[in-house]
Amino acid sequence: MIWDKKKIQNPKSKIQTLYPSLTLGIIILFLFLSVSANAFSFAVFGDNHGDLRTLSIIFSKIRSDKDVAFAVNLGDIVNNGSADEYRRYSDFISKSGIKVYNVMGNHDAVLGGYKLFAKYFGKDYYSFDHENAHFVILNNSFRSFFDEAQKDFLIKDLEANKGKPTFVFFHKPTFDPSDVYTAYLASDRKMTEKMMEIFEKYRVRYVMAGHIHAYLKTQRNGIVYIVSGGAGGPLHLPASLGGFYHFVKITVDGDRIKDEVVRLYE
Ligand SMILES: [Fe+2]
Repeated sequence: MIWDKKKIQNPKSKIQTLYPSLTLGIIILFLFLSVSANAFSFAVFGDNHGDLRTLSIIFSKIRSDKDVAFAVNLGDIVNNGSADEYRRYSDFISKSGIKVYNVMGNHDAVLGGYKLFAKYFGKDYYSFDHENAHFVILNNSFRSFFDEAQKDFLIKDLEANKGKPTFVFFHKPTFDPSDVYTAYLASDRKMTEKMMEIFEKYRVRYVMAGHIHAYLKTQRNGIVYIVSGGAGGPLHLPASLGGFYHFVKITVDGDRIKDEVVRLYE
């Protein structure tokens, strides 16, 4: 019997020829998903400290911007954790017509305020998606530092959401871009440094905090860090150094991200 080598098909080589087309298919699917996500914006502000007047100005600007899909409050939403303050803020938000994700600040946690935070807003750390982007809310204000449970949560969460443009929010900054308010940072430097390593490992795009009542922006190891604490509390810095009332508008268009600061008063 004479073997016709051409007719003998090697299953291994068949698989090998499949690989390039499989890879191409995945790339095309990824590109399709990236392009098919709708562009959107979201607003970020912090440290209103119970001041609903300044917040009203922010919300009227947000409402008039049809691109803004939701907002994030970076904490110190009330001034002394009281039931009355929580109720007034909650009423204000529910009538605003804007979905707001709330971060717990130190002023929200004091005098048992953390229980009211849970009552009105639920969990104090979690994540969610919007279009193609991923958002992580953390809490370093109840205990003044990130605890082990949140670190573990963050690693698992970022591992499961690799490849999405990701934004992380919490109240106390991990470092001070102004070098003026170094006492205002999250405690436990070792844990804080570890958290920043995790942000870098998973290529988080933006990390946003409040606590310092000003607008500060810097880059560190490929991540944009913004401090936005200008929604009503007394300002901590002169206007020339970022001490002005404002909110931040972030626009996500596929993989492109743009941030802009919107001043409330010229
Ligand atoms: Fe504050």
